[in-house]
Amino acid sequence: MKKNVVFDYSKAAQYIDGDALKAMKARALEAREVLMGRTGAGNDFLGWIDLPVAYDKDEFARIQKAAAQIREDSDVLVVIGIGGSYLGARAANEFLNHSFYNNLSREERKAPEIYYCGNSISGTYLKHLIEIIGERDFSVNVISKSGTTTEPAIAFRVFKALAEKKYGKEGAAKRIYATTDQKKGALKTLATAEGYESFIVPDDIGGRFSVLTAVGLLPIAASGVDICALMQGAADMRELCLNDAEADDGAVMYAAVRNLFLENGKTVELTTNYEPCFHYVAEWWKQLYGESEGKDRKGLFPASCDFTTDLHSMGQYVQDGARIMFETVVDIQESTDTVVLEAEAEDLDGLNYLTGKDMDFVNRCAMQGTLLAHTDGDVPNLQIHVKDRTAYSLGQLFYFYEYACGVSGYVLGVNPFNQPGVESYKKNMFALLGKPGYEDAREALLARL
Ligand code: PA5
Repeated sequence: MKKNVVFDYSKAAQYIDGDALKAMKARALEAREVLMGRTGAGNDFLGWIDLPVAYDKDEFARIQKAAAQIREDSDVLVVIGIGGSYLGARAANEFLNHSFYNNLSREERKAPEIYYCGNSISGTYLKHLIEIIGERDFSVNVISKSGTTTEPAIAFRVFKALAEKKYGKEGAAKRIYATTDQKKGALKTLATAEGYESFIVPDDIGGRFSVLTAVGLLPIAASGVDICALMQGAADMRELCLNDAEADDGAVMYAAVRNLFLENGKTVELTTNYEPCFHYVAEWWKQLYGESEGKDRKGLFPASCDFTTDLHSMGQYVQDGARIMFETVVDIQESTDTVVLEAEAEDLDGLNYLTGKDMDFVNRCAMQGTLLAHTDGDVPNLQIHVKDRTAYSLGQLFYFYEYACGVSGYVLGVNPFNQPGVESYKKNMFALLGKPGYEDAREALLARL
């Protein structure tokens, strides 16, 4: 069994008391029993545990067919969704594809340009996206489990109208792919009425755990990524989590160590990386942990920095500010593309000592030096080693993080699978918008503004 994702707390050893870790590991293993025994809070949302081996093969084949169709007939794919119905696809597509994917020629990319919307309510953003698409052929993948979320619903209303204007109602229906609940919700009703090709968000999988369902798989496959390898990676990590749970370098240990730091007064986990392609994986990770653990006035605040970029902004705080955090460095070990530095006749910038070295070497030295500097500055550094930028390794990483999150939430004593706090802003927004049924709340809110 390949282990392409490895947790490593060796560089934080000086901050970890051996007995305390032993006790926390025992608690994490108990939490794991609750998870696997399906006896904890939110146990009706555990479909993600077996998903990598128990997914619907017929739907998977339909996803691949739809992705091939989109690649063939579309210059642009518009992916509409927010939160768990957005971040996983974007994370995978940015991590696995060319850094300038949308700027490659159609021939090089062999896939449409991909843009995301419905993840904000910015009219400017949507207007600019419409301008970028121009007269070109496009398809839409609208993703919403509930089918009623305001941000994607607004964006879909706009793109549905655009598609119908360009292709006619029937033509548009062939270019709109809906990923939503199997039976209920406004989007499901519309998809059935209009005859859109539809994919399912399973009842027992919450948005932030849904990247390996059609939610993530269709836009990922549309970009040309090998989704079979992605699923295989997740399946192999599931095997490791199920059969080697006590491993010192596994997901349960990650859950234990982060909870130990929380109990020792750290309130922030800062996930850092040295590859720009990781940015949206960190965004996905923040949602996974923030929405799963931030409740009942508990939980580590999940933050992220992109290094070395942010060493020139947040680096000062990390090195020297309030000692509230520990850092988890994601180390992507192998790369396929790099640049080798050449000598210059006049060494004005003083970089000739790096002649013949590639930028990965420079980046690795930056990573190692930063790790030691932050450790010296009293920021314990954990590491997650990821072998490479392949779909297989990303599948392992997605599952690793999800499994650790389930265990970690139960160690913390919360329900990791609900998100009651997300509703509060929506109620206020609906009241201020004048949505019927919110009249009383509206008066009270207006008095406070
Ligand atoms: O994790 C979650 O449940 C949320 O982030 C949702 O995914 C997000 O609010 C979008 O919801 P929906 O898919 O119903 O539009």
